[in-house]
Amino acid sequence: THARTAGPFIAAIDQGTTSSRCIIFDRDSRIVSIDQKEHEQIFPRPGWVEHDASEIWTNVEEVVAGALGKAGITRGLRAIGVTNQRETTVLWDKKTGEPVHNAIVWQDTRTDALCKEIGGNVGQDRFRRETGLPLTSYFSGPKIRWLLDNVAGLRERAERGEILFGTMDSWVIWNLTGGPSCGVHVTDVTNASRTMLMNLHTLEWDERLLAAMDIPAAILPRIRSSAEVYGMAGGALYGVPVASALGDQQAALFGQTCFSESEAKATYGTGTFLLMNTGRRPVHSHSGLLTTVGHRIGRRAPVYALEGSIAVTGSLVQWMRDQLGLIGTAAEIETLASSVADNGGCYIVPAFSGLFAPYWRSDARGVITGLTRYVTKQHIARAVLEATAWQTREIVNAMHKDSGVALTSLNVDGGMTSNNLLMQTISDVLDAPVVRPMVAETTCLGAAYAAGLAVGFWPDTDELRANWRRAAEWTPRMDAAERDHTYKLWLKAVKRTTGWIE
Ligand code: G3P
Repeated sequence: THARTAGPFIAAIDQGTTSSRCIIFDRDSRIVSIDQKEHEQIFPRPGWVEHDASEIWTNVEEVVAGALGKAGITRGLRAIGVTNQRETTVLWDKKTGEPVHNAIVWQDTRTDALCKEIGGNVGQDRFRRETGLPLTSYFSGPKIRWLLDNVAGLRERAERGEILFGTMDSWVIWNLTGGPSCGVHVTDVTNASRTMLMNLHTLEWDERLLAAMDIPAAILPRIRSSAEVYGMAGGALYGVPVASALGDQQAALFGQTCFSESEAKATYGTGTFLLMNTGRRPVHSHSGLLTTVGHRIGRRAPVYALEGSIAVTGSLVQWMRDQLGLIGTAAEIETLASSVADNGGCYIVPAFSGLFAPYWRSDARGVITGLTRYVTKQHIARAVLEATAWQTREIVNAMHKDSGVALTSLNVDGGMTSNNLLMQTISDVLDAPVVRPMVAETTCLGAAYAAGLAVGFWPDTDELRANWRRAAEWTPRMDAAERDHTYKLWLKAVKRTTGWIE
């Protein structure tokens, strides 16, 4: 952060899986201030993950006030952008603004059986052509259906028009713009593309999908572009235009200035998501990747992306800290893992939410393999970091198969990129350089960029590109024989993750 200035500024709210944050940027894309607050992770049963949406909204209000306070600004904010954890589903009462149930988080696998039922004879690919997605518990549609089926009286209230649905972008924007009195109920194309209810080609809610999942259209927000003024904020941001919304991974793609076809990035957060811009064309995957909307600026043509999603990366480190107590802070994992030369034969496959790309097995569960009396917690720490690297390799392989574009280097961002050993390991297993930009907070930056473009704060994407600066680079050091050998062992461990659910 740097000294207070008079502005003008753009603010971005990132409502993420583990925390909510607000960052204020100046015109040179520099961070003026940050505030952040974690919220509770609720695990009611194995495989279930929930958030309290009211707690999240309170936190959002606090971090907005916090960031404004730290920057010492009361005026000069030109717009605010919103980015968010995707797919996480909340239904709330239109009159009171009260959520009717905890939000069901993207990692939650409770709808596994429901998805199999909806898939019928066709299975996972039933809606692939329309949505670009496999029918799995990751996406919002089945989560909405579960709530309608399981919260008493909810379906009737929803059909009477008393209930609103949203992913976290909609929830935050509705509350920001006045809530029950005058809140705007909208979502953007990137978030809508993760619900399994939007048609990827028309960019509208699809009646056939709604009917197949038995979801009333009355609860749905309007689908808008990712960069336009949706309404004016109230509260601490009174009168500031709310001018962008993007799912966090699409926002990071935008913040990394991957505006052209075949540009890609990987964001290392709770999970890890590698997205490649595929231009005006939705590219259908044959290798277990998702087809999704990258962004849409106002009335311009939409830009599509291919995505490799990994459910568990940073959250594996958190699990080691919170559930196992093997480390005191997330940063300690690097010290621990660096004190041994290898993993001692140990592999961890963190299939906590099943396996995402390229497998899409909601019924998979995590395994630790190769244990002997020799293995120490240092080896386990190393296996934790390697799990992130190997999962990245599987996604990069799939991306190569689908797009035909070979990776010459990987642009990375997100919290885990401060871990040098991890970044080196990723470069080693990919056999390619790994590059991190100066502003590693690309998720917020992307939301700020989209909001700034919507209100004319930045003239065009060329100026944004000029602000991208390389901060660090790691180059491969592992020899090919070792890489191939250890990759085979990883793939063997992955095979052990299924067959545990009766
Ligand atoms: O699809 C889930 C993704 O949007 C979550 O991202 O950074 O909150 O883990 P993150």
